[in-house]
Amino acid sequence: MVIGQGVAVVTGASSGIGRATTMALAAEGWRVALLARRVGRLEALAAEIAGAGGEAMIAAVDCADGAAVAAAADRVRSVWAPPSLLVNSAGAGVWRFLEETRHDEIDAMIGAPYLAAAHASRAFLGDMIAAGRGRLIHVGSPASIIPWPGATAYAASRWALRGLHEALRQDLRGTGVTSSLVTFGEVSSEYFAANPGSRQFIPKIGGLIPVSTPERCAEVILGVVRRPRATVYHPLALALIAWSAAVLPGPTRWLIAGTGRRH
Ligand SMILES: NC(=O)c1ccc[n+]([C@@H]2O[C@H](COP(=O)([O-])OP(=O)(O)OC[C@H]3O[C@@H](n4cnc5c(N)ncnc54)[C@H](OP(=O)(O)O)[C@@H]3O)[C@@H](O)[C@H]2O)c1
Repeated sequence: MVIGQGVAVVTGASSGIGRATTMALAAEGWRVALLARRVGRLEALAAEIAGAGGEAMIAAVDCADGAAVAAAADRVRSVWAPPSLLVNSAGAGVWRFLEETRHDEIDAMIGAPYLAAAHASRAFLGDMIAAGRGRLIHVGSPASIIPWPGATAYAASRWALRGLHEALRQDLRGTGVTSSLVTFGEVSSEYFAANPGSRQFIPKIGGLIPVSTPERCAEVILGVVRRPRATVYHPLALALIAWSAAVLPGPTRWLIAGTGRRH
C-alpha cells in the first residue's frame, strides 16, 4: 500500500539521522512532529522547516518516558491527525565493557533506542491499525547483527530494538501496518561527539564499511517509506556482513571479535 504525504512523527529529530530524515520528509510535503529532549534544537529545526514552506510541530520529551510520549501523541492527534509514519531514531549510549558502564548509563541506553521506540510505537499503533495503513521505521545498529567487544549495554539495547521490530512484524501481519528495521554502518552524525570514548571500540573490520552522511541515511529511510521492506542494511558492505553473519555465524563472530578491542 502506498503511503501518501500526511503526518509523520520522528523521534531523535534534534540531531543526526532523525534530523536529516525530518528535513527530507518536510521537503516532500509531510507535516512532521519532532520529538527529542533539546527544545532549542527542535525550535530551530521547526523554524527552518517553516521558513522553507513546510509544517512542523515540536514536543520536547524524553522518549523513554511513556507518559510524556503518550501526551505528545495526543497533541499530534488533536492538532493535526493520527500519523501514518513513525520514524524511531532516538538513541544514545557509550560503548564500554559492562563492568565499566555505570548503572545510569545502562538505564539510559535501554531508554533510547528501545523504550523510546516501544513507547512511540505503542502510542500510534492503534490509530494505524484502525486506519489499515501505517509505517513504523526503526533505526538500528550493526551491533544487533553481531556485537563487537566493548559495547555491551549498547549492543543489548539494539538487540532489544531488533526484538521489538521482529515481534511487531508478527503482530502486524494482515493489518496494513509495516515495521521496518533500517540498519546503517558508521554515520557522520554527532553520535561519537555525544558519546565520547566510544569510537575507539569500532572493530578494525568496520573500516571496510564506508561512512554514510545523515542525509544519505534519510534517503534510504524515505526509500523504505515508499517501498516498505522488513530489513534494510546500508551501505552494501554492511549488507554483506549481515549476510555473512546469517550463513557463517561462527567465522563472522570470530572476525568481528578478533578485529575488536580486548580487556
Ligand atoms: N552514528 C552512527 O554511526 C550510527 C550508525 C548506526 C546506527 N546508529 C544509531 O542511530 C540512532 C541515532 O543516531 P545518530 O547517529 O542520529 O545520533 P545523534 O546525532 O547523536 O542523534 C541522536 C538523537 O537521539 C535523541 N535522543 C537520545 N536520547 C533520547 C531520549 N531519551 N529521548 C528523546 N530523544 C533522544 C537526541 O536528541 P536529544 O539529545 O535532543 O534528546 C538526538 O536527536 C542511534 O540509536 C544510533 O545507535 C548510529
